[in-house]
Amino acid sequence: MKIQEMDQQYIAGTYRRVPLTLTEGHGSYVTAEDGKQYIDLGSGIAVNTFGSSDPGWLEAVTAQLQKLQHTSNYYYTEPMAKLAALLCEKTGMSKVFFSNSGAEANECAIKAARKYSFDKYGEGRKTIITLRDSFHGRTVTTLAATGQDHFHTMFGPFTEGFKYVPAGDKAALAEAVDDTCCAIMMELIQGEGGVNVLTQDYVDYVVALAKEKDLLIVIDEVQTGNGRTGQLYAFMHYGFQPDIMSTAKGLSGGLPLGATLFSEKTQNVLVPGTHGSTFGGNPVCAAGAVYVLEHLDEQLLSEVAEKGQYICNELSALDGVEEVTGMGLMIGIKLKKNLAETMAACRDKGVLVLTAHDKMRLLPPLNIPFDVLKEAVEIIKEVINA
Ligand SMILES: Cc1ncc(COP(=O)(O)O)c(C=O)c1O
Repeated sequence: MKIQEMDQQYIAGTYRRVPLTLTEGHGSYVTAEDGKQYIDLGSGIAVNTFGSSDPGWLEAVTAQLQKLQHTSNYYYTEPMAKLAALLCEKTGMSKVFFSNSGAEANECAIKAARKYSFDKYGEGRKTIITLRDSFHGRTVTTLAATGQDHFHTMFGPFTEGFKYVPAGDKAALAEAVDDTCCAIMMELIQGEGGVNVLTQDYVDYVVALAKEKDLLIVIDEVQTGNGRTGQLYAFMHYGFQPDIMSTAKGLSGGLPLGATLFSEKTQNVLVPGTHGSTFGGNPVCAAGAVYVLEHLDEQLLSEVAEKGQYICNELSALDGVEEVTGMGLMIGIKLKKNLAETMAACRDKGVLVLTAHDKMRLLPPLNIPFDVLKEAVEIIKEVINA
């Protein structure tokens, strides 16, 4: 049976797949089963931080794989401890909980935010305010946290205790805050919602209001994290410190790993018995993440910003483009022509792109060579101009 037929027959139909079976990847290129090569501007949705099969990353994970592939969280392992130390040193946070995905990292963040308030104030202060057009995951609770009504159907009852406000609307936020609230949770650049960047002014307001009301600031860096926006984490562009931060996707550069980081204020909220994970912090995934974090240096981050600016300059000048949004190598492009047709035409010409809401979305590997990026951008331009 052909792979695509087998997939369609035996895999639950949750994905609208592109008719392409990928067999290999090297650097910024992936190869399909017919041997055709594509420049991959999606990175497995911001996961393959250094592209496919990066030699240094591969060595780091295979070396760990040959030593110890897994143990339970009853024991200590070096990769996990080293990774937690690196994350804390690089972010100014104090402690980390490891899981396997973005949704799980957010579940942990939500539990910890509520427990912080429970420990300090007792029952009754459990509402978390999130933003319209946000996306926080696919579990029942993270769907409830997601501020898009169409996700709040079919699977109810959903977890109670979320309120949604439009991003950027200070008055709506001020009105939503009451004495049932314990936290404000947001992405600084809404990824799935359409690569919408929050303004400095709005974030300053949120931070000040949260401080005044003792609300925790929970930042979802699942997509924006790990160098994607040209800073190690997007909060670093805005000049504040989150109380809780979640990340996943690109953290381990291609292996499943989620992390929830706690500030000094929230570091002791989770105690034995309050949370856990069988696979969380797996040593192979952690070794991959140590490699990623050790190689996301200033030079690479400034190249991410430069490459992002280049894409933005090239594409925003086109007549067929209404708007380019984003930061670093997290870019949304609002087109005048049909999005699905444009994506298919890019694919025919050898470039893989993503969508986010009504935009084309680009999330290239952070180390994509400039000449490869240029070639891909020229193809996108050609398709948009056609
Ligand atoms: C901002 C954000 N949070 C959470 C998630 C969920 O992550 P995962 O699919 O790893 O559970 C995503 C996934 O797209 C995301 O973009």
